[in-house]
Amino acid sequence: MGYGQAMKQVLVAVIAIISIRRHLVAAAGDAVQPSSKALKQVPAMYVFGDSTLDVGNNNYLAGADVPRANTPLHGVDYPGSKPTGRFSNGYNIADSIAKKLGLKESPPAYLSLAQGTTPLVVTALAEGVSYASAGAGILDSTHAGDNIPLSKQVMYFESTKAKMQAKVGSAAVRILLSRSFFLISVGSNDLFVFAAAPTDVVALYSSLISGYNTTITSLYNMGARKFGILNVGLLGCVPTVRVLNSTGACNDGLNLLAAGFDDALKSLLASLAAKLPGLVYSLADFYSHTEVTFANPQASEGRRAQRSGILRWTSRVYSAHQLQAAGPEAGPALVGGQGDIDVNVPDFTSYSIDPAMACIDLGRRLIS
Ligand SMILES: *[C@@H]1O[C@H](CO)[C@@H](O)[C@H](O)[C@H]1NC(C)=O
Ligand SMILES: *[C@@H]1O[C@H](CO)[C@@H](O)[C@H](O)[C@H]1NC(C)=O
Repeated sequence: MGYGQAMKQVLVAVIAIISIRRHLVAAAGDAVQPSSKALKQVPAMYVFGDSTLDVGNNNYLAGADVPRANTPLHGVDYPGSKPTGRFSNGYNIADSIAKKLGLKESPPAYLSLAQGTTPLVVTALAEGVSYASAGAGILDSTHAGDNIPLSKQVMYFESTKAKMQAKVGSAAVRILLSRSFFLISVGSNDLFVFAAAPTDVVALYSSLISGYNTTITSLYNMGARKFGILNVGLLGCVPTVRVLNSTGACNDGLNLLAAGFDDALKSLLASLAAKLPGLVYSLADFYSHTEVTFANPQASEGRRAQRSGILRWTSRVYSAHQLQAAGPEAGPALVGGQGDIDVNVPDFTSYSIDPAMACIDLGRRLIS
């Protein structure tokens, strides 16, 4: 990246931060809350990935081994206290990010809409669609048959796009997609599968990065420009791994495996942004976030206390998944180990220095 371009990005980031602050100040200061529509920063959001983002797709898949978030405990803190297929007691990371973008919650699950063309197209145009599926990996072979693999999620998006074009024309769809937010969180399942029977780690990274490359490039070629990507967290510290160790210690090998993937992902994104004109992205550093929080669990003590009644079972039921804390300020969280540690999800506004939010905001001001 040239100096001029780098300066432009810094400037963009600064302007965006100021602009986001202004939004926040305005929201806090207004006697009457502005409608969420007024704060909507993107016209729509399209979601791809695994259980960190699934909002119910897996409920529509057949098979006894399909992971489903269906017990009454799932969704106990969701409006209406009903399970929705989210691997959470309430909202999940996709909802949290959607809200930050001014949407009501995550867009609905593709398979909940696909039966009828009209609901699918109307929803896809008005707010977006979620293709995320618990258990999914970058590789088709990851838990094959028990989820919608990433490649198929992209095919579903392609089919959605064709239906949108049939309805409103390709020019309108091109503009909509170029302004919309594409959220991706995937990779953990591939790494867990690999770790169960490790072979050549260099070959693993290479195939995962190649798959991620294909995914982002395909979405870009279909008109996507703004990407929010979550890297993978401390896989060696999730409860299902820690219970395997009599001392409850994290598995350092798994954490190293995750860190290596995250490094490669970071390079891939930088190289794609340099090559694909107009592509902007934010990489949410979930790994560092979980690292910092596990190092200082006391920081989340207050929120933990509010939910201590359900934490004991959430650590079992939700396993490595989100626990939405009870406080309105807290947002969703991860149950991190021993039923005893929970953390906030990466806060996208705090990543505004990284191109992410900046570009969302810039895109809005430039285009609309
Ligand atoms: C448990 O964790 C400790 C500390 O990381 C490690 O030395 C030990 O090998 C682990 N035990 C097993 C069975 O994985
Ligand atoms: C991504 O894929 C393209 C072609 O499909 C290739 O030219 C490029 O080198 C790949 N980038 C990385 C970082 O793998």
